[in-house]
Amino acid sequence: MSVKLGFIGTGSIAHVHGDVYKRMGNRIEFVACCDLNEERAKKFAEKYGFKKYYTDYRQMLAENKFDAVEVCTWNSAHAECTIAALNAGANVKCEKPMAMNAQEGIAMKEAAEKNGKLLMVGFVRRHGNDASAAIDFIDKGYLGDVYFIKASYLRRAGFPGGWFGDKSRSGGGPLIDLGVHVIDLSRYIIGNPKPVSVFGATFNKLGARTNLKTNGKAWSAAAEEEKEPIFTVEDLATAMIRFDNGAVLYVEASFSLNMSNNTPGGLVLYGSKAGLTLDPFELHTECNDMIADIKISGPTGTGDFFYNEDINFLDAIDGKAECKAPAEDGIELMRILDAIYESAKTGRSVDIVR
Ligand SMILES: NC(=O)c1ccc[n+]([C@@H]2O[C@H](COP(=O)([O-])OP(=O)(O)OC[C@H]3O[C@@H](n4cnc5c(N)ncnc54)[C@H](O)[C@@H]3O)[C@@H](O)[C@H]2O)c1
Repeated sequence: MSVKLGFIGTGSIAHVHGDVYKRMGNRIEFVACCDLNEERAKKFAEKYGFKKYYTDYRQMLAENKFDAVEVCTWNSAHAECTIAALNAGANVKCEKPMAMNAQEGIAMKEAAEKNGKLLMVGFVRRHGNDASAAIDFIDKGYLGDVYFIKASYLRRAGFPGGWFGDKSRSGGGPLIDLGVHVIDLSRYIIGNPKPVSVFGATFNKLGARTNLKTNGKAWSAAAEEEKEPIFTVEDLATAMIRFDNGAVLYVEASFSLNMSNNTPGGLVLYGSKAGLTLDPFELHTECNDMIADIKISGPTGTGDFFYNEDINFLDAIDGKAECKAPAEDGIELMRILDAIYESAKTGRSVDIVR
């Protein structure tokens, strides 16, 4: 039996998942897709062979039956689209960030539980070879106790355009867009400890940097709809996050920053026996009372991580695999982001209370 698949939101990232599902052959039945922009929905339907396309997700959910729905809208629509799809009897994978805040995330998880359906979050970095290799090294004791992590997702001039700069639709800037990837990856690799407090700061000094001649085309498909660039979000965010196992994570994320090189999702884990840089995958340790760096060869890059994510979603629906990115981890992430934005506003550290 093939999986009856639907999409809500058919912009940039939807094509990445569409390409993956196309590779799965007749495991997938492309039932219907929806986008507020009719032209975009139509093109997406034609490209992947969806039988129907819509501009209203409520109508799409009322007129069709789905086993699985991908929610790939801008962030402010994640909660309403996900809850509607779950209530219509579908299993849902919602793109990162799960929602605008933890409260919305909790309502989404409750809808999944009420309907007995799976809700997975699109934390694609959990599905990379680097994530599984790092977990394997930790499990086998190569790092010892991991007590500090540095995570960096800095872009010198990398504003995606469109709604990504509009706080009312994005919920924030590089922290909620890019930081989310590396904060979640850090938590995942060290066993999903619970965050207890954060100290954060955000800035908006350089903005969208649309003046730069070197700036490429916006990669939000919806950017074409904006007459004037909107930039009501931070351009740089930085934070310290303390977890209940004693570990501390330092994170930094930017759309615009005067720096030399981008750091697209880099992570360094510091353990009592060894440190580990993810890209390139390298251990930092001691050998015969001397400092030693060990380069590891093997499947240690991100690999085919979008494929792995989408297969994990389908296998988890079928009960063949455990879901690697369940709703509760999406909520923990939103708790961290809520606290960082709160801390940035007040200038004080914020305790995360449940
Ligand atoms: N996992 C990743 O690495 C990754 C990469 C890029 C984007 N994303 C996430 O994917 C989501 C979409 O990002 P994108 O880059 O594709 O943006 P995009 O601007 O290219 O596309 C978003 C689309 O959603 C549509 N939309 C918004 N509200 C809708 C609604 N209520 N009903 C139907 N359609 C609606 C818009 O019209 C637009 O076409 C975001 O949440 C983003 O954070 C994840």
